[in-house]
Amino acid sequence: MARDTALYEPINTLKPIAPGLWIVDGPIVRMAAPLGTSAPFPTRMTLARLPDGALWCHSPVAPDAALFEAVDALGPVRHLVSPNKLHYAHIAAWKLRYPQAIAWASPGVRERAAGQRIEVHFDAELEDAAPPAWAGTLDQLRFKGSRAIEEVVFLHRPSATLILADLIENFEADRLATPMRWIARLGGVLAPDGKMPLDMRLTYLGHKAEARACIERMLGWRPQRIVLAHGRCFMEHGEAELRRAFAWLSPL
Ligand SMILES: [Fe+2]
Repeated sequence: MARDTALYEPINTLKPIAPGLWIVDGPIVRMAAPLGTSAPFPTRMTLARLPDGALWCHSPVAPDAALFEAVDALGPVRHLVSPNKLHYAHIAAWKLRYPQAIAWASPGVRERAAGQRIEVHFDAELEDAAPPAWAGTLDQLRFKGSRAIEEVVFLHRPSATLILADLIENFEADRLATPMRWIARLGGVLAPDGKMPLDMRLTYLGHKAEARACIERMLGWRPQRIVLAHGRCFMEHGEAELRRAFAWLSPL
């Protein structure tokens, strides 16, 4: 898939990408940018249907009534996953709609939410291995090495799809205003060469070996595609794209 416009519009619509796997492109949010400006920032969630029919929701986007209706038609929402401490803002809205769902906390997200005075009730912690609820369908691991943030990454095993939030960002130049295009290029997050933003990469200084061990495990999953929360997904050559995007971890 060369130009994944269809992966963006329409928003808040279920888009199947593999059997039992959907993405939803959420509303564009405004992100603070230099000189007091703000820039559009695309968001995306991923839903997987587990063998018992339950839905697993990764990084839920800002919902609306139509999205909830479409999700209801797929099956019961049982899991709401915050993959890292920056991706939790809409868990509360989903939990309100699906009170039986388990809200899964990522490392540091409770403290982060409390600091932002955002009330979210988390029910369980994401660990370094998948819980029994989805271990048959999804692999997971905590991506270690950063002094600032740990993301829990997932592999949808039936489709060999790697599901990431912020470990790779891949913004298309033609969707960015010129100043942001330059900032994205400097940060290393411009498609098709998107990777981890530079400021986040710097938090791995002195601990790259831990991150390298995680990448080795993820490469061992042999991902065919990579779904991202921000920017264009890599719908083919997943393993090669993962290797490329994390070349910065290689020993000099
Ligand atoms: Fe993010």
